[in-house]
Amino acid sequence: MAASDTISVSRAICGLRGAVCIPGDKSISHRVAILGALARGSMQVKNFLCSEDCLNTLRAMEQIGARITPGDAPENFTLTGCSMQPNAPQKDIDCGNSGTGMRLMAGVLAALPFESRLFGDRSLSSRPMKRILDPLSIMGARLEACGEKPGCAPLHICGGTLQPIRYTLPMASAQVKSAVLLAGMLTRGTTAVHQPAVTRDHTERLFAHFGIPCSVSEDGLDIEVTGPVDITAKDITIPGDISSAAFWLVAASIVPGSELTLRNVGLNPTRCGILAVLERMGADISVHRIHEEGEPYGDITVRYAPQLHGTEIGGAEIPNIIDEIPVLAVAAAFAQGTTTIRDAAELRVKESDRIATTVGNLRAMGAAAEEHDDGMCITGGSSLHGTTLQSFDDHRIAMSFLMAGLNAEGATTLQGCRNIATSYPSFEDTLNELARYPRRHRELIP
Ligand code: S3P
Repeated sequence: MAASDTISVSRAICGLRGAVCIPGDKSISHRVAILGALARGSMQVKNFLCSEDCLNTLRAMEQIGARITPGDAPENFTLTGCSMQPNAPQKDIDCGNSGTGMRLMAGVLAALPFESRLFGDRSLSSRPMKRILDPLSIMGARLEACGEKPGCAPLHICGGTLQPIRYTLPMASAQVKSAVLLAGMLTRGTTAVHQPAVTRDHTERLFAHFGIPCSVSEDGLDIEVTGPVDITAKDITIPGDISSAAFWLVAASIVPGSELTLRNVGLNPTRCGILAVLERMGADISVHRIHEEGEPYGDITVRYAPQLHGTEIGGAEIPNIIDEIPVLAVAAAFAQGTTTIRDAAELRVKESDRIATTVGNLRAMGAAAEEHDDGMCITGGSSLHGTTLQSFDDHRIAMSFLMAGLNAEGATTLQGCRNIATSYPSFEDTLNELARYPRRHRELIP
C-alpha cells in the first residue's frame, strides 16, 4: 500500500499487543550494497532494507557495475559485484534523502578513476558535506560541494589515486569515519581514523566479514584499514533496525496495557543505547534469543511501564542513541520528572533540526519542553493532547509523534509522512495492525 502523506492516530485504548518483525537495518544495508557492489563474485543478501534511502544506494551501485538478481522476496536478492573494476556512472547519482548514502558513496567514488555527481532532495541539499570534503581532500581527492548553500550537495567528484592519512574526526560521526575508511580501503597504505567517542561500527564489522584488513583499538576510538583491498563476496543476513524498533519500544512503554515482542532486532553494542536509557527510566524490557554472529541480534519484549521517570542523557552515550533522541524525548514527556539531553548538537544537522522540531512538536501537544544549544530539557507527567503537527520533512519526527499520539487526548495528525518510506516503508501497516485496527492484527498473532 502506498504510504499516506497525512496519518492520524488516537489513544490506543486496548494497548499495543503482539509481535512485530522489524525490517532490516538501514546503516548496514547501505554498507552491504556498497561493499558487495565492489566485491569479486556473488552473495546472497537477506533482509536488506527496501526503503527509499537504501534502494537509492543499491541503484547507484548498479550504475557502477553491480548486478542484482531478485530472490524470493524484495528484501532477499543476489548481489554480484564488479570485482573491483567499477565503471563510470552514466548519469548523476540520486541519493534522495540519505546523508549516509551520499557521504559513504563519496568516500568510495573519490578513490575511483572517473567523474561522478551526487545529488539529493531539499533536506539533503542543506546538510553539511564539508565534514567529508575536508578529510577526503587531505587524501588528495578532487571533489567539491556545488550546492546553493555553501558546503552542501550536489557533490562533483573527479576520482583518482589517493594518499593514506591519519585523521582525527572533529565530531563523533560514523558517516565521516566510514567515508574516510572506505576511501582508505581503496588507497595503498594504512589509513587511520581517531574518533572522539565510539560511533556505530558497522563498517568495521563488515570489513571483518569480507576479510578486509582492519584493526580497532581496545577502546574502539582508533581504527586503521590497509589498502588497496580485494573484496570477496560473502552471503549476509541483515538484522532488524533497532532505530525502527525504537518507536515500538517507546509506544509500548507509554501506552497502558501494552506488551510487544520485537523480532530479530540488531543488538550491536554501539547502537542499543536506547535499551539502557529506557531501562534507566523504569521501562520493562527483556532481551532474549540473542544470536552472536557478525552483528548480534535478538528478540525484545517490552511491556507498559506505569512508572517511567526522567533521566540525564549526554556524553559518550549520544552517538549510540543519536537517531532515537526524538522518540526518547516523547518517552520523557510521559515520564515523571525532568529529562535532560546534552552534548547532542549533531541533532541540528539531521534530516531536520531535531532539537527545534522535537521541542516544537512536544510543546504543541502541551508538554513542558525547552530547547538548549546542544539538547533539550523535558518535564513530563502531565497529559498530552492531540493536534495537527508537521514532520518537517523528517521521517523520525513523523514516527516519533505518531507514537506520542497513541497516548494523547483526542486525535494527533501528522502531515508530511510520505518520507517515512525513506527508512521504514512498512511502518504504517504495522501501526494500523497494532493500534488503528488492532482486532485484525490480534487474529494474526498465534
Ligand atoms: C549513520 C550514522 C549517524 C546516523 C545516521 C546513520 C550511519 O549519522 O544519524 O542515521 O549509517 O553511519 P552520523 O554518523 O553523521 O552521526
